[in-house]
Amino acid sequence: MKSVFQKRSFLKEKDFTKEELMYLIDFSAHLKDMKKKGIPHRYLEGKNIALLFEKASTRTRSAFTTASIDLGAHPEYLGKNDIQIGKKESIEDTAKVLGRMFDGIEFRGFKQESVELLAEHAGVPVWNGLTDEWHPTQMIADYLTLKENFGKLEGLTLAYTGDGRNNVANSLLVTGAILGVNVHIVSPESLFPDQEIVDLAKDYAEKSGSQILVTDDVKKGVKGADALYTDVWVSMGEEDKFEERVNLLKPYQINMAMLNNTGKDETILLHCLPAFHDTQTEYGKMVEEKFGEIEMEVTDKAFRSKHARQFDQAENRMHSIKAIMAATLGNLFIPHV
Ligand code: CP
Ligand code: NVA
Repeated sequence: MKSVFQKRSFLKEKDFTKEELMYLIDFSAHLKDMKKKGIPHRYLEGKNIALLFEKASTRTRSAFTTASIDLGAHPEYLGKNDIQIGKKESIEDTAKVLGRMFDGIEFRGFKQESVELLAEHAGVPVWNGLTDEWHPTQMIADYLTLKENFGKLEGLTLAYTGDGRNNVANSLLVTGAILGVNVHIVSPESLFPDQEIVDLAKDYAEKSGSQILVTDDVKKGVKGADALYTDVWVSMGEEDKFEERVNLLKPYQINMAMLNNTGKDETILLHCLPAFHDTQTEYGKMVEEKFGEIEMEVTDKAFRSKHARQFDQAENRMHSIKAIMAATLGNLFIPHV
């Protein structure tokens, strides 16, 4: 019997039902437990996995690599500058070639259309490792982290503060709405998510019973938050925007005062990483020199506080990517979810 996941690509969250996303979250927890207990789970023995990157990555690349190896597969990194894609060969032709050699393909890049095109022509599952629009593999790890901390998802409130229209914000909003998590996007009006995405989230929220709030009012937005989530103020590909964003987003920085103002005792801090919480990076130093700020989206104190769960999230990237690859390529017995 073919499972509901077998041979499917993982391109954006809205392609999956609530039950399917929940299955992937719970399967990630199961694989995490197997890994900790040293139980082998080589569901992709003998398979070849291509890892295509147009943008830089630490977690996603490392997670796909180690997850592939744990599953018995062979990962191969294909950086944008190492292969012909874009310069000498179209995405369609690249997809047709890779699909004849590899059993699954991860793609991280700029346009969502690129990953969709790849999936259309590859004939094998394609997994979206981040585009300008969505970051779906991150969501399985993030909502797993929430579930690990609170034992449930439905009825929790996640407040995302900062750049409200980037890939991570879009994905958190839509995924939370599907799963029944209340999502607050707290950002300046000029960085509110696209209305189309808000409308989509509201449609899902109506079905799941979650509440969606998009506001520039920090006090209102963080009230009742079980999790405060932030991401970089300047995403990959928009590095010319530091000046504008530093000035605009300062009031949306997560700091100890914000964590203490949620009205909840156990608020956790989430961040997909990498984070600008000090001046130990080139951009961190540049922002200090030019604008006099030593921290951006999260203060160092908050980042190192008892609330912080960002490194659990980072670890969970591996378990969740493993679940996504195994479910879509592993011929597993998953009759229905
Ligand atoms: N969170 C995340 O996607 O990290 P990388 O950019 O390091 O892959
Ligand atoms: N919004 C960030 C996420 C990085 C994981 C970016 O696109 O750069």
